[in-house]
Amino acid sequence: MTMDTGLIFHPYMRPDRTARQTFEWGVQSSIACDRIGFTTMMISEHASQIWENIPNPELIMAAAALQTSRIKFAPMAHILPHHNPTKLAMTVGWLSQILEGRYFMGIGAGAYPLASYMHGIRGEDQTTEHLNDMVRESLSIMEKIWKREPFFYEGKYWDAGFPEEEVALTEEDEQHKLANYSPWGGAFPEFAVTGFSANSPSMRLAGERNFKPVSIYSGLDALKRHWEIYSEANIKAGFTPDRQRHAVSQTVFCADTDAEAKRLVMEGPIGYCFNRYLIPIWRRFGMMDGFAKDHGIDPLKADLEFLVDKVFVVGSPDTVVDKLNALFVQCGGWGTLQVESHDYYDDPAPWFYSLELLAREVAPRVSLPHAKNLQSA
Ligand SMILES: Cc1cc2nc3c(=O)[nH]c(=O)nc-3n(C[C@H](O)[C@H](O)[C@H](O)COP(=O)(O)O)c2cc1C
Repeated sequence: MTMDTGLIFHPYMRPDRTARQTFEWGVQSSIACDRIGFTTMMISEHASQIWENIPNPELIMAAAALQTSRIKFAPMAHILPHHNPTKLAMTVGWLSQILEGRYFMGIGAGAYPLASYMHGIRGEDQTTEHLNDMVRESLSIMEKIWKREPFFYEGKYWDAGFPEEEVALTEEDEQHKLANYSPWGGAFPEFAVTGFSANSPSMRLAGERNFKPVSIYSGLDALKRHWEIYSEANIKAGFTPDRQRHAVSQTVFCADTDAEAKRLVMEGPIGYCFNRYLIPIWRRFGMMDGFAKDHGIDPLKADLEFLVDKVFVVGSPDTVVDKLNALFVQCGGWGTLQVESHDYYDDPAPWFYSLELLAREVAPRVSLPHAKNLQSA
């Protein structure tokens, strides 16, 4: 099978954008991706970051629901420690019904301490273990709510319940009937989990529960490790890991020529965002270390041009195909390339052209390598 293309919308909008502009760019991007043939659109949830200014991804999905017909949406991710599980289960269930099933649910533990602090989680409670414990409890409550069977649960972090429906006295008596906010079709939505760190607890959870794994590309070692952790846990739980389900987010840009693609990235919104926001934050999160190791340079020397030439996937369609196929052989490949969205609000043409080239000219020529062609790790 060949690679699918999707978008991930963090959305890396310049800080002077208004809420309305960010929202409008999200809806426009959803419609464009649906038309172009992207299979998925993932939208982030952030309480704290000025460059990642969407607190409620579901609002963009709801606005785009009636103007799109094929693309599937997912929050990537709803940060479970920041939500009341019952309220979130109902929001998700209702949205999945509105989208008539074009929905899957991304969950995460949260990346930013300031966002956790705003939700009353501070100090030692911000450890990965603690946040992941909250994720697991939230998940189990949401599953119970969607089952619509009576229970009351007094938890470590949240209490929740589902009441018994009272028996109607006559056929016309609808006053006791409970509204149904379970996901479309009554089934649980497909779940996806975001993984970031080298020893990712999230990838373990994804494997154990047979959820879809979603990684940020942060170097070959981390990506290979994600797949190992995921597949070990997946096999242990009795499932068969399928690389086609793995989605990896990357900075990708395509134009007619290599020179044009590089110029547009260096001088355009992507370069601006990396210089002002992502390069400093990647240094803070240690993400540069993996890229620097892959190419044998000092992490402090990793600048925008290094990223464009060596880490991002930038170039003409032929170059992008070659770069992705080479990467696939090195790390085993993945099923969906989740293209990192950027702020092309003022001049969308080169961005949407890049997405069209990726979906139509690149993706059909990239596929998972056969096991025998993989470089041994
Ligand atoms: C593709 C992707 C998207 C993410 N989106 C968000 C997000 O929207 N909001 C957020 O606070 N954290 C986000 N994160 C970070 C996660 O909440 C979480 O901190 C991280 O995935 C933990 O990974 P680990 O278990 O590998 O350490 C994202 C991570 C990835 C890989």
